[in-house]
Amino acid sequence: MEQALTGGASPASGVRMLPTYVGSTPHGNEQGNFVVLELGASGASLRVLWVTLTGIKGQRVEPKSQEFVIPQEVVLGTGQQLFDFAARCLSEFLDAHSVGSQGLQLGFNFSFPCHQTSLDRSTLISWTKGFRCSGVEGQDVVQLLREAIQRQGGYSIEVVAVVNDTVGTMMGCEPAVGPCEIGLVVDTGTNACYMEEARHVAVLDEDRGRTCISIEWGSFNDDRALGPVLTTFDHALDHASLNPGAQRFEKMIGGLYLGELVRLVLVHLAQNRVLFGGYTSPALLSQGSILLEHVTEMEDPSSGVARVHAILQDLGLSPETSDAELVQRVCAAVCSRAAQLCAAALVAILSHLQHSREQQTLQVAVATGGRVLERHPRFQSILQETVTLLASECDVSFVPSVDGGGRGVAMVTAVAARLAYHRRLLEKTLAPFRLSCEQLAAVRTQMRDAMAKGLRGEPSSLRMLPTYIRATPDGSERGDFLALDLGGTNFRVLLVRVTEGGVQIINQIYSIPESVAQGSGQKLFDHIVDCIVDFQEKQGLRGQSLPLGFTFSFPCKQLGLDQGILLNWTKGFNASGCEGQDVVYLLREAIRRKQAMELNVVAIVNDTVGTMMSCGYEDPRCEMGLIVGTGTNACYMEELRNVAGVPGDSGHMCINMEWGAFGDDGSLGMLSTCFDEMVDQASINPGKQRFEKMISGMYLGEIVRHILLHLTSLGVLFRGQQTQRLQTRDIFKTKFLSEIESDSLALRQVRAILEDLGLSLTSDDALIVLEVCQAVSRRAAQLCGAGVAAVVEKIRENRGLEELTVSVGVDGTLYKVHPHFASLVAATVRELAPRCVVTFLQSEDGSGKGAALVTAVACRLARV
Ligand code: BG6
Ligand code: GLC
Ligand code: GLC
Repeated sequence: MEQALTGGASPASGVRMLPTYVGSTPHGNEQGNFVVLELGASGASLRVLWVTLTGIKGQRVEPKSQEFVIPQEVVLGTGQQLFDFAARCLSEFLDAHSVGSQGLQLGFNFSFPCHQTSLDRSTLISWTKGFRCSGVEGQDVVQLLREAIQRQGGYSIEVVAVVNDTVGTMMGCEPAVGPCEIGLVVDTGTNACYMEEARHVAVLDEDRGRTCISIEWGSFNDDRALGPVLTTFDHALDHASLNPGAQRFEKMIGGLYLGELVRLVLVHLAQNRVLFGGYTSPALLSQGSILLEHVTEMEDPSSGVARVHAILQDLGLSPETSDAELVQRVCAAVCSRAAQLCAAALVAILSHLQHSREQQTLQVAVATGGRVLERHPRFQSILQETVTLLASECDVSFVPSVDGGGRGVAMVTAVAARLAYHRRLLEKTLAPFRLSCEQLAAVRTQMRDAMAKGLRGEPSSLRMLPTYIRATPDGSERGDFLALDLGGTNFRVLLVRVTEGGVQIINQIYSIPESVAQGSGQKLFDHIVDCIVDFQEKQGLRGQSLPLGFTFSFPCKQLGLDQGILLNWTKGFNASGCEGQDVVYLLREAIRRKQAMELNVVAIVNDTVGTMMSCGYEDPRCEMGLIVGTGTNACYMEELRNVAGVPGDSGHMCINMEWGAFGDDGSLGMLSTCFDEMVDQASINPGKQRFEKMISGMYLGEIVRHILLHLTSLGVLFRGQQTQRLQTRDIFKTKFLSEIESDSLALRQVRAILEDLGLSLTSDDALIVLEVCQAVSRRAAQLCGAGVAAVVEKIRENRGLEELTVSVGVDGTLYKVHPHFASLVAATVRELAPRCVVTFLQSEDGSGKGAALVTAVACRLARV
């Protein structure tokens, strides 16, 4: 068991230890009506039950049930025949019991070894017991059943869960004290399940809680352990079975085999003249002529002797009185051994639990089920005696199963139905985030229209601001420059040295407290100048008059390289008295106030432009700049003739699109979800920057937080418990999306991130949070890609090219840190702009370097 749990043992020789995806013992509040279909538990019969769960502990409604015998040709026929038969029985049952025909929820009690991957997905590993239908091994049996039900028609039945009989037995039990944590079945076959610490199960990525493991101990086949126990009769039985070599342990215990073992011993004794005067009969010599029923009857303390005579006579034998006694002893030996072996295996579970739970005396309830345990006169008592003998330190109570496990299956089905319902709510919540190709193409087209209008000076949500930059760098720029970088995550002051040998950068990050970003303009610009002066002092630059380039990442109407009127603040800035003012003037005023007269502001540059210029220094094909960080925006080289308001019609000019505002005229309304509305309404600029608010780092965490709150209110997450923390604005950082979606992090680490936020969650919760993050970041990347597609297509058409090869310089924390963002943007661009070959270059040095390069060009032009 322990080897298989850690993934060590080869399943061919050992127990399988299969996770069942049942995570907790029942709460007792499960309720509803469920159809249970039982296949494989009791020989070649199939049972259909209608189980009502009242939701009240101890209150039980007798189930309706019906048994159907599966014809032998079906047991050994094709899988389709078997499942069609099952679907027919279901219909027949439902017809007879008139329980309605719509919305029926079914639990499938399928008692064979299966690899389960969820509550409703389960692949048959191999048939056991008497079954051998073709085309089922390796298939998902839930799917096969669903298809058969569809072929049958008539009823709409949802197959919600698939459950092993041991699990149904365990789940349906109501012990007097504590939960029942072991399920034991001895029927046609034998097996047990128990609640294991999830962290011990290697295949589950889970470190908390318990999970139910179906041991499949029937396949226990260890040579060392079983070798000395196996008799010639066991070998003979195995050879003649449908599955020689397999299920060796089961073949000593399961009800399918006990009668046959007795028969083989009787034949041996007759042939050795110990029984029946040395006579055998054709019936005695044929396989399967003695069944479990015969053995239990023959062992009955009161009527046993009479039954022995009758049964042997039916087999064509004429037993003496002494024969009857011997036959009874044979039955007792075979069955006692079975019960003892079963007990030994059960004790293996007990001692494993005792050790792993570090308990001196383990107190545990075992749910028992199956015809051998229920009907054999002594099996149960031998089992219990042996358990007491082998595990005297454990306090074990045995509790008979309810409705042959049917109730437990219904309980698992109830849980699965709840999970499936939650999944539907999750899907419904996330559906508006999943954009189709058509929707993305429409975004691209709308963006194209808005660009054209903006360029012509017509009303448009895209301002398409001229930057007065007419060319990307040509590599001949030289000199030392100061640069400022304001508007991203960090405010930085830089010294940029552009030499023949390359560009060297020294920079320092300064903080801008929120009170400054949202205080008065004067205070903001004074703070900026203080930081520059501090930087100059630290770098020994005081007294030197270096040209300064100002990366100012906000929408500005430029009238020249060194003049930029702030149109409006975006992102988290809101300093008063700045909108409508020339930012260079505001900076120069602060310089004057602070008497830092050697500062010489030469150019103001948007971060997109800085990024394009910086990448353009390395790659002349770089004609677009893209930022996906705190905010999002793009710039690109447009034909001057297309730019209204700037004289001249030859050459190019870089246009700052300010695409963050795309859709502020309502044109993105169709795509906006209620969560986008909430984020927008709670922002400092409601109604503004609607495209940015669906894409950039400042907002994605907030969108996720609002979705999580909604899912919690629906009861889908965190067991419906709202927490104060999650209601706190900005508590869910966008960097969590990047961390949660990182492939190298296992789900348990996802949980650690969320637990840091004070959210206590189950593994289902962790998966849901991951899915929410994926949906939100995917939409962001796709919208961004649609925007890039619009731009590169425009450049291509401007130039009348069949195909355009172009590079895009990119910067921004979200783009750089998120594990999938960049590739999703690229994939969307390939889809939406198939005639453009686009290379994305990540800017390494931020836009400060670009600002310095712009400044260098300006200085060169000023000298000319
Ligand atoms: C930086 C630039 O590298 O990227 C900034 O230098 C820019 O000017 C920023 O605003 C965008 O990213 P973020 O994530 O810092 O907003
Ligand atoms: C067989 C099956 C197992 C089942 C047991 C009891 O061993 O493989 O899944 O639990 O029989 O029915
Ligand atoms: C915001 C600003 C824009 C900037 C972008 C990225 O959208 O308005 O100017 O380029 O953020 O930082």
